[in-house]
Amino acid sequence: MCGIVGYAGGRPALGIVLDGLRRLEYRGYDSAGVAVVAGGALSTEKRAGKLANLEKVLAESARPGIGDGTTGIGHTRWATHGGPTDRNAHPHVSADGRVAVIHNGIIENFAKLRAEVEATGVVFSSDTDTECVAHLLAAELASLDGAAGADGADGAATGNLAEAMRRVCRRLAGAFTLLAVDARTPGAVVGARRNSPLVVGRGSGGNFLASDVSAFIEHTREAIELGQDQVVLITADAVSITDFAGQPATGRDFHIDWDASAAEKGGYDYFMLKEIAEQPRAVADTLLGRLTETGDIMLDEVRLTDQDLRDIDKVFIVACGTAYHAGLVTKYAIEHWTRIPCEVELASEFRYRDPVLDRSTLVVAISQSGETMDTLMALRHAKEQKARVLAICNTNGATIPRESDAVLYTHGGPEIAVASTKAFLTQLVACYLVGLHLAQVRGVMYADEVASVVDQLQNMPARLTRLLDTMAPVRDLARELAGVSTVLFIGRHVGYPVALEGALKLKELAYMHAEGFAAGELKHGPIALIEDGTPVICVVPSPAGRGVLHDKIVSNIQEVRARGARTIVIAEEGDRAVLPYADHLIAVPKTPTLLAPLVTTVPLQVFAAEVATARGHDVDQPRNLAKSVTVE
Ligand code: AGP
Repeated sequence: MCGIVGYAGGRPALGIVLDGLRRLEYRGYDSAGVAVVAGGALSTEKRAGKLANLEKVLAESARPGIGDGTTGIGHTRWATHGGPTDRNAHPHVSADGRVAVIHNGIIENFAKLRAEVEATGVVFSSDTDTECVAHLLAAELASLDGAAGADGADGAATGNLAEAMRRVCRRLAGAFTLLAVDARTPGAVVGARRNSPLVVGRGSGGNFLASDVSAFIEHTREAIELGQDQVVLITADAVSITDFAGQPATGRDFHIDWDASAAEKGGYDYFMLKEIAEQPRAVADTLLGRLTETGDIMLDEVRLTDQDLRDIDKVFIVACGTAYHAGLVTKYAIEHWTRIPCEVELASEFRYRDPVLDRSTLVVAISQSGETMDTLMALRHAKEQKARVLAICNTNGATIPRESDAVLYTHGGPEIAVASTKAFLTQLVACYLVGLHLAQVRGVMYADEVASVVDQLQNMPARLTRLLDTMAPVRDLARELAGVSTVLFIGRHVGYPVALEGALKLKELAYMHAEGFAAGELKHGPIALIEDGTPVICVVPSPAGRGVLHDKIVSNIQEVRARGARTIVIAEEGDRAVLPYADHLIAVPKTPTLLAPLVTTVPLQVFAAEVATARGHDVDQPRNLAKSVTVE
C-alpha cells in the first residue's frame, strides 16, 4: 500500500526522493517522511497527512544537512499498524540513531519481535510493526561491525548493511518491502522484498529503489524487478542482489516503455479526468497486435498449451473492486462464447471457502496493479490446488502475472488516480480477448466470428471518443445532484455489473450512499429505498440485442418512477422506448450487447468525478483509500 523510494548517487538525495514520493502518493497518503545520510549522520523528517505537509516543514525549517546528503529514502504511508500520526510516520530510526527504515506491508510476527527488542531495554517511539526492524537492524550491524569480513557478496565497504538486512529478513514473517540507510554506511541503500513489490532503477551516476518505476522514470528507464525473498544493495555505481541466504541472485531486467509525461496530469485538474479521457487510446493499445494474420488471438505470455486450455471445464474469475466488476461482465461473455461454466468471486473470499479446483479449472486473476494481496493469495491458493492461472494485468512483471501460467497485459499506461477508469475498460477488452481465445482454441467459434467481435472492439476507440465529447450534460446533472444523499443504480445482464461499478465510483469519490442492484431484484426489497426525488440511474441494454431484456428494464424504470424516483437513463442512441420514462437521458453509441459496458460505464465515471469535485473532495486521492491494496 505504501510508496517507498531510495536513492544513492552523486546528487542531493532530498529533491530526488521527494519527486519520487509525489509520483507514489497514490499508494497511500496518510503520512510522509524522508531520511538522508549526510556527514556521517542521519537527518530525518516526517509528518502526518499528505506529502504537502512534509514539504512545508522542510521548506520552513529544514534539518541541518538534509539538503546535502546524496543518499536517502522516502515513504508515503497507508496506515496499517498504528494510526496516521507523526510518530507512526516512516522512517523509523533505531534507538542508537544509526539506522532509518521504511516499510510497505505487514510484519505478522512483530509482537514477538517487539517484545524481544523491548527486553533489551529499547523504548519504542511508535505503534508500528516497522520500528522493530530498525532496532533489529541496528543490533545486527553492531554485532557485524565487531566481526570483520562478514560478507563478501556485496562489496567490503557496504557488505555489513546487506548482511544485517538478510539476517533480519530471515526472522520476519508476513509481507514486506523494506529500505534502510545506515549513518555509518554513507553512499548505500539496502532493500529487501517478500510478497510486496520492489524495483531498481539503474541510472548513470546514481541508482534508485522504489515501489514502482514511476518514482524514478524521469531519471532512468532501465529497471530491474527484484524476485521474491531478495536483498538488494545500491550505491552510486553498483547494484548487488542476493537471496536471503546471501547467495548471489539476479532480478528481471526490463526497459520501461512509457515516459514521465505519461504520469503527469497533462493539463487536466485531476489524473482521473485525464485517465477518463485516455480511454480511447488505452482500449486501442490493449487491442494492438492481438489478432495474428491467421486470425488467432494472441496472449502475451503463455505457459499453457492449447490442449491445457481445451481440457478446461470450469472458469473462476477472482478480483477485487472494479476488477471484480470487470470479472462479472466477463462471465456473460465467457459463458456465451465458450459454453464453459464461469464463476466470479471476490478474491478476498475465494480461498476461505475452499473452492473445488483441479487441473481442469482455469482461474483468471484480474488486477490493474498486479500486486493486490487478496488477488495474489487467491491465485496462490488456486495454484496449490493445481488449477491453471491466467492473469490480466496492467503492470508488466508484477507479482500476479509473474506467478501465473499465462498473461494478457492491458496497455492502459500508468493509472495514478485511486479510482479505476481506464483500468476497467482495458480489463474488459482483455477479458473479451481471453474469452475469444478460449472459444477459438476449443473450436466453438470460427475465425470469422472471432474476427467480427474483434472488429467491433476495434471500433470502440472511435465510439468512446465520440461519447466523451457529449459529456457536458452529465457534468451539469452531477453538479445539480451533488447535494442528494442517495443515488441508486440499476441494470440487467451486463448492465448489472455496470450499475455496481457506477455505485462504487460514487461511494469512493463522493462519499455518498450509492448502491447498485440487478433491476429484477428491486421488487424483492430495495424498491423500499425510493422516496420522492431519489435519483435512480438505469443502465439499459441495446434494444437490438435480446428484446425481452430491454423490455424488462423499461418496466423496471416505470416501477421506480411510479414511486417518485428521478430517472437518469443510459440508453443506446435512437432507443425511443425509454423516452417517456427518462427524466434525463444519456445516449451512448450503438454497441453489441456483450460489449456495451465499454460505453455505458463512461458517463458513470464522469458523473462520479463531477459530483466529487462539486462536493469539494480530492478526486485523485479519496479519503481512507490507496491505489494498490497490498495487505489482506
Ligand atoms: C476502484 O476504483 C479501485 N481502484 C479498486 O476497487 C480496485 O479496482 C481494486 O482495489 C483492485 O485493484 P487491482 O486492479 O490493482 O487489483
